[in-house]
Amino acid sequence: MARKKIALIGSGMIGGTLAHIAAREELGDVVMFDIAEGLPQGKALDLAESTPVYNSSVSLKGANDYADIKDADVCIVTAGVARKPGMSRDDLLGINLKVMKSVGEGLKANCPNAFVICITNPLDAMVWALQQFSGFDTKKVVGMAGVLDSSRFAYFLSEKTGVSVADIHAWTLAGHGDDMVPMVRHSTVGGLSLPELVKQGWMSQGDLDSIVERTRKGGGEIVALLKTGSAYYAPAESAISMAKAYLKDQKRVLPVAAYCDGQYGLDGMYVGVPTLIGAGGAEKVVEFDLNDDEKAMFAKSVESVQGLVQACKDIDGSLA
Ligand code: APR
Repeated sequence: MARKKIALIGSGMIGGTLAHIAAREELGDVVMFDIAEGLPQGKALDLAESTPVYNSSVSLKGANDYADIKDADVCIVTAGVARKPGMSRDDLLGINLKVMKSVGEGLKANCPNAFVICITNPLDAMVWALQQFSGFDTKKVVGMAGVLDSSRFAYFLSEKTGVSVADIHAWTLAGHGDDMVPMVRHSTVGGLSLPELVKQGWMSQGDLDSIVERTRKGGGEIVALLKTGSAYYAPAESAISMAKAYLKDQKRVLPVAAYCDGQYGLDGMYVGVPTLIGAGGAEKVVEFDLNDDEKAMFAKSVESVQGLVQACKDIDGSLA
């Protein structure tokens, strides 16, 4: 069987990290695309020169021409600008919407059968715009946010309880903004739900509340520390887990920004929900039972996403 082809649209901090992981894990041949000349070529060559050290038999190539991503199996999109201190993800909207238009056209013309994972922020609106601009089946276009937010949540829970991250299953749903919804009742540490952990004295309610808050602001915490950009290691790992689920038909249930049409009472929009990912793409949205509080938090986050989508429509009249 021929090697799979992975196109990385945007070869900045996340794009470079994605290429590194994809090469080490031999997921397929990698094409790094960017509008900056030399950047994708330089990174691809540097990475290619590392493959003999760990015996990876994939090729890596840099490109400034969309023709080079022809027939890619997976495209991971990070093209655009990243946050700087003082900026919210929403501040990026106008600039990154234009980028999604050019990316959508490039994908449509060159790899119409690819599984597309969008990482560019503001995520839920950008993945929607990318699907609209590309015209791809909604099952083949998803956004990466929930795996990252849930991983942050799991890490903070591990730090507090001393339980290995391997035995923690954390979930965050809804939009990728500060009003995301960490699912306290559905997340587990060693099989115990978080309210049960508090009951058993593993941590106080105050500790749990702080962890929820830190999870919501996790992206901002990294931006404030780095000062020159936003997180890239954890976002890249998260997107790779989604690409692997598709390429290997793993049928994993991951929290991703998926197109909901009826599920969670939503009428055709992208938002973070548990989704079964396999060879068919986003094969099925899994519906958690939400109590009234969770429903209210979910609705508030959905409202923010709807506001961003409306802002996209106001900027670009071609978006219905
Ligand atoms: N087409 C292709 N690449 C583009 C385009 C475009 N139209 N516009 C910008 N780029 C490239 C830039 O040249 C840059 O190399 O996208 C890359 C973005 O890389 P970084 O600035 O390093 O940003 P990164 O940290 O990788 O984050 C990318 O993901 O998490 C989100 O908020 C983040 O939206 C940001 C994106």
